[in-house]
Amino acid sequence: MASKALKIAPVNEEFAAKITGVNLAQPLDPDIFLTIKNALHQYGVIFFPNQELEPANLSSFTKNFGTPDIHHLAEHTFPKYPEVRVLSNAKKNGKLVGTFNGGHYWHSDLSFLPETGYVTILYGIDCPPVGADTLFADMRAVHDALPKKTLAKLNGQQAVHDRNYRYSELYPERPPLTPEQIAHVPPANHPAIRTHPDTGRKSVFLVKEMVSKIGDLDETASRALLEEIEAFMESGNFTYCHKWQVRDLVIWDNRCTLHTATPYDTAKYSRTLYRTQVKGDAPFYTA
Ligand code: SIN
Repeated sequence: MASKALKIAPVNEEFAAKITGVNLAQPLDPDIFLTIKNALHQYGVIFFPNQELEPANLSSFTKNFGTPDIHHLAEHTFPKYPEVRVLSNAKKNGKLVGTFNGGHYWHSDLSFLPETGYVTILYGIDCPPVGADTLFADMRAVHDALPKKTLAKLNGQQAVHDRNYRYSELYPERPPLTPEQIAHVPPANHPAIRTHPDTGRKSVFLVKEMVSKIGDLDETASRALLEEIEAFMESGNFTYCHKWQVRDLVIWDNRCTLHTATPYDTAKYSRTLYRTQVKGDAPFYTA
């Protein structure tokens, strides 16, 4: 039996839920953790207001979900907790204290690797009062609502996810990738529709800014299809917008959601979040 104090309040019937009545800074009873994990699989995104966490607690909590992914850029992590990364626009001695301007387009974490991301966890340290929301899309609902004609173009098809494909358009302020960096992350093929390993539900697994090709379509036709699907996703009732408060902890399941950061006035406000990520497995499709 999970704790009686733990309460799960869905934001809408199917997508995103607020969880209260649990202290994530303490080791969790296995039943309570299972309730949290099941809620994540059911709602795709879960959030816990008002958690008091240090990097050590965030690291321990993250490990309940599996093996953390350690980012190759060690500069914005904690030496004792390399799995905890800092996202920030704040500067110390003229240098950014965290990664700035990442993830400002719809994506699923690590979709460009053969084994893609499972959960990502963000924890609010400093949150602007205006803007800087994180938007999430329920790609299971998008799958279920897509016009049959569009779905037929995706079922059973593979998509090429390529981190290098539009890197310079996405990050014009960063130095271009070196030939070694490009070779280090070759494109990965994944089913355009993936089956969730825990729930069996299908979702659209496409990232417009990473996918260079879908099935037999050429680049132009692939891009047109990606744009059509993204427009469909944005125009329907498929998204949840998380408006950050300090000490919010937000978790999402990258196997059935997309997310994007949104803009804010970086000259006026400072924003800092801690971030962890857990390794996942290779996406698959069952007809
Ligand atoms: C991310 O894509 O992991 C970051 C999202 C955000 O900064 O809101």
